[in-house]
Amino acid sequence: MNPIDPIPAADALPDTILDGSRFLRACLRRPVDRTPVWFLRQAGRYMQEYREVRKHHTLVEICKQPQLAAEVTITAAEKLGVDAAIIFADLLLPLEPMGLDFEFQAGEGPVVHHPLRTAEDVRPLRTDRADDLAYVARAIEKVAAHFRDRLGIIGFCGAPYTLASYMIEGGGSKNFIHTKQMMYGDTTAWRILLDKIIVVLTEYCRLQVQAGADVIQIFDSWVGSLALADYRDYAFEASSRLVRAVQQMGVPVIYFGVETAGLLTQMAATGADVIGLDWRQPLDEGWRAVGPGHAVQGNLDPITLFAPVEVLELRVREILRSANGRPGHIFNLGHGIVPDTPVENVQAVVKMVKEFRLNAARD
Ligand code: CP3
Repeated sequence: MNPIDPIPAADALPDTILDGSRFLRACLRRPVDRTPVWFLRQAGRYMQEYREVRKHHTLVEICKQPQLAAEVTITAAEKLGVDAAIIFADLLLPLEPMGLDFEFQAGEGPVVHHPLRTAEDVRPLRTDRADDLAYVARAIEKVAAHFRDRLGIIGFCGAPYTLASYMIEGGGSKNFIHTKQMMYGDTTAWRILLDKIIVVLTEYCRLQVQAGADVIQIFDSWVGSLALADYRDYAFEASSRLVRAVQQMGVPVIYFGVETAGLLTQMAATGADVIGLDWRQPLDEGWRAVGPGHAVQGNLDPITLFAPVEVLELRVREILRSANGRPGHIFNLGHGIVPDTPVENVQAVVKMVKEFRLNAARD
């Protein structure tokens, strides 16, 4: 292991270690008393309490009822004892006000009923109804009122590329053939689509920030399907515009993708405050690619949560040691918690992160 050099936070404002939540401070690369921790998909089917709620409501029903969405968000964060709560919602919700119907089919994931394939399909998409997503903002208000400054509150949306890929493929995809066909073959339609997505997502994020989100995470979950040259030519600018628009609202941005080892330097060039790292690369290597001007979030393999606790502890400590106490590390997984994950192992990781001391670990 080759820990990266500890350097002071770039922002040298007079500042005590207690101002702001630990999570928000780490996003801004300010010193913290210990590494903050939360988990991608921390509210989900692995948790008994969530499965109970799901017996009576569909996923979309939970998202659309602010009281339920807030309860699911709060229950997960409190049960795990994490430092941040991500609002319970879904990446695909903005499709509906744009005029695309979708549903979640058991075992299949999301299905968009009339996927976009041509410029004629893109043209009627609406950009003036982001307010229809205000139910997410109402849920954030409830979560923010509950936690106040004790926890960081994370709002989120999809990145333009990842959202466009769902709209075009009609669901998950292995090879992203239709997406890339539009990207390469009708670049004008592709750019119009990304522009429309950016308009809606900017307003959606604004609703979330006004409601009390401290940070916005932009999920570019499928960006790893792109070669670096294609990311640079077809997706980077759209992500950068969204990052800047959200930062102008006064909150930091976490920009996350999967299978991004070859893309990290370019992803960091979007200007996002924090880059989410997947687990395929050691944290210190990923941070070097991202550069010292950004915080990083990650990067335990979610399937390590099925390992014996000694193995789990080894991996957790390796990540913390390779961050080396440098300001700007948020502990997380490299992708979401999967169903059937033992909840006690997730809780054990929280305890390990909370009790970790860099100097003691070196003895
Ligand atoms: O706790 C949290 O992380 C907040 C909740 C959250 C959900 N979706 C709820 C959900 C978040 C942050 C998302 C984001 C999301 N949605 C992403 C980006 C994150 C990532 O994993 O990269 C993506 C790609 C989606 C789209 C999506 N939603 C898929 C592909 C699926 C099906 C996958 C599966 O495991 O079935 C969903 C459904 C979904 N969204 C679930 C949850 C808890 C599970 C299904 C359910 O409860 O019925």
